[in-house]
Amino acid sequence: MDIEKAEFTVSGGIRLLEDISLQVKPGEMVALVGTSGSGKSTLALLMAQLYDLSSGSIRYDGHAIGSLCKADISHNITMIAQHPYIFTGTVRENLLYSASSICDELCDLPVDEKIYEVIQNVGLEDDFLHFGLNMVMPKDEGSQNEQKIIQIRQLVAEYVHKKFLDDIEFFDVREFSEHSCLLDNLIIGESVNETYSIDRIIEHIGFMAILKKFVLDQELEHLGWKIEQATIDHVHQKKEGHKSLFQVSSMEAGELIFYTRLLLSLGDGKPQMTKERDALLVLALRYIPDQHTLVDLDPGIKEKIVRMRHFFLSEVIGVDMDNPLKGQALPTQFSDFRPFFPSVYIGTRSLLINIVFGQIKCGMQKSRILEKEIIACCFLLVFLTRSKNRRSILR
Ligand SMILES: Nc1ncnc2c1ncn2[C@@H]1O[C@H](COP(=O)(O)OP(=O)(O)OP(=O)(O)O)[C@@H](O)[C@H]1O
Ligand SMILES: [Mg+2]
Repeated sequence: MDIEKAEFTVSGGIRLLEDISLQVKPGEMVALVGTSGSGKSTLALLMAQLYDLSSGSIRYDGHAIGSLCKADISHNITMIAQHPYIFTGTVRENLLYSASSICDELCDLPVDEKIYEVIQNVGLEDDFLHFGLNMVMPKDEGSQNEQKIIQIRQLVAEYVHKKFLDDIEFFDVREFSEHSCLLDNLIIGESVNETYSIDRIIEHIGFMAILKKFVLDQELEHLGWKIEQATIDHVHQKKEGHKSLFQVSSMEAGELIFYTRLLLSLGDGKPQMTKERDALLVLALRYIPDQHTLVDLDPGIKEKIVRMRHFFLSEVIGVDMDNPLKGQALPTQFSDFRPFFPSVYIGTRSLLINIVFGQIKCGMQKSRILEKEIIACCFLLVFLTRSKNRRSILR
């Protein structure tokens, strides 16, 4: 590359570059260094034909930059922007953004293997795995892949269940789950069409009636009040580090003002209005014992929750509780909720939860390792089950 006496003036006569000369031989590596605003990016944009020189010349292998077409430039120059921009769309679309604009006529888009190789080379593999595993698949993708995911779930349950016992809390209708929120503990299921998602379950008359029947409504309200008070107390004491505080509380940072007002209006009294009571109930239903350590859970509540769950699943939804872990046909009586069945894809949960059919117990660092192990097991299991002598190999 040969730059000779390059000059660049923008409108208003502002001269951004003046008398720039520079040669780069094939195979040579050059770093352009200078103070902020000295014109490095401007020069790079000129070299990529994104700006036109005012005077002087830039040549590639003897060819003046002005004589080269856009395709020549884009096939030979790669730019990494100073301020990277991620477009709305899939990761693939973002990665192939520029490639797709130049590959149509002149070449094919990179194959998946090539894309994975690049992802590995730049050290993004673990993040991609984490990102992919922890996303809730869009409805159509979820239903397209439902069968495959259930098959993998069944293989994991059959062959590697024990291996992951320390790190995964598998869904079990008989046990209280320390790693699931109280609502999940109560119904071990999801709201069909998400109408009664966690913040709106209190609108479900049937659910609320059962909560009352088990006298859990008042206990949960009280728990919500404890969470509210502890969270607000901590915010006032600590002043800093609010972010980490909201990881150990079921209140979200954006709700602080609302709950502070509620607490002030309540004083020492009990909530009288339904709206106030509902707001406290929501905090309690979102509460995950193992994570929201700001407040402890009374062991008596756990036992009651499991009893209410049993009632809810057997009497309301119609699950055969003597045989709950077997894949059974979905009961039809109660159409608002769909229990977590081993044979049914959970539309509102991540791919990871669907594969392992449970919650991850371990902290973030260890869970990254676990995710890799799970994927490795899945690949191995799928490979082995396709092999002829799979039974003997698996043993
Ligand atoms: N189109 C323009 N019109 C007027 N001024 C411009 C224009 N583009 C860039 N500049 C100015 O030209 C100067 C050089 O900018 P440039 O972005 O090339 O600097 P840089 O060396 O890349 O700086 P940094 O290290 O901060 O990235 C800056 O003062 C910038 O504000
Ligand atoms: Mg710059």
